[in-house]
Amino acid sequence: MQIPPYLLNEHYNDRYFDVVDAFEEARHIHLSGSRVEERVREACRNGEEFRIGETGFGAGRVLAALIDTLEACENLNYKIHYSSVELYPLSIERMKCVLEGFRDRADSHIQKMCEAYSRLDISKPGWHQAAIKAKSGIIELRLFAGEALDMILSLDAPCDAWFLDGHGPKKNPDIWRTELLSAIGAKTVSGGTVTTYTVAGHVRRDLAAAGFSLEKVCGFGGKKEVLRGEKLAAGSEDRITADSTTHR
Ligand SMILES: C[S@@+](CC[C@H](N)C(=O)[O-])C[C@H]1O[C@@H](n2cnc3c(N)ncnc32)[C@H](O)[C@@H]1O
Repeated sequence: MQIPPYLLNEHYNDRYFDVVDAFEEARHIHLSGSRVEERVREACRNGEEFRIGETGFGAGRVLAALIDTLEACENLNYKIHYSSVELYPLSIERMKCVLEGFRDRADSHIQKMCEAYSRLDISKPGWHQAAIKAKSGIIELRLFAGEALDMILSLDAPCDAWFLDGHGPKKNPDIWRTELLSAIGAKTVSGGTVTTYTVAGHVRRDLAAAGFSLEKVCGFGGKKEVLRGEKLAAGSEDRITADSTTHR
């Protein structure tokens, strides 16, 4: 298929996401994969905030899908910290252009996300913050302009869920390097999750070494399998192996 030029990230010669079903893909891999709705509900019941980390903000499609999913939920009053990172931040014009194809499904949610993004001064490196007020809660978007490892190391609190979405390991090995995945493990709460579309062996081994118990689950679109993992409590690492994967 011919990829529209605006969907191609020229720095990696790879597209930001699947052209046709990118929202559904984000829901399947990251939102269902990490049981976000259920866990956000539980956090609300306990009066707690929920923290999400993402490697590769790109056009903010995963965040827009998250807003879209949570807006459909009743009786929530959440506070979510959404910490993401982008080495090559898109202009707001380009972002809108990339997300154009989803407007018929999630127009107001895309608008909310773009409005928050347009308030960030992405020309400056480091952390930027903007609140997104949704019907049933607040998402605090915290975007780090710069390199993923620097973002992870500078997080002030561990995350409940990580969405790894930084192009495939072949196109962008940097964002899958051992030291970075190990830092993600260190910045995840016990019982926290990691989700990604790649099931590459070295990614599974490094995530397992970083403390995650991993599971290959059925994929989406052209992908047969994708990956989800749960961080085990300290001391239970001896139960983890890179090949302790099960199929659903
Ligand atoms: C597949 S795209 C992200 C898609 C995005 N999550 C979305 O839903 O629109 C991956 C993004 O990661 C960014 N990226 C790649 N390597 C990076 C790194 N080392 N540090 C920070 N960002 C990086 C790329 O520039 C690109 O925008």
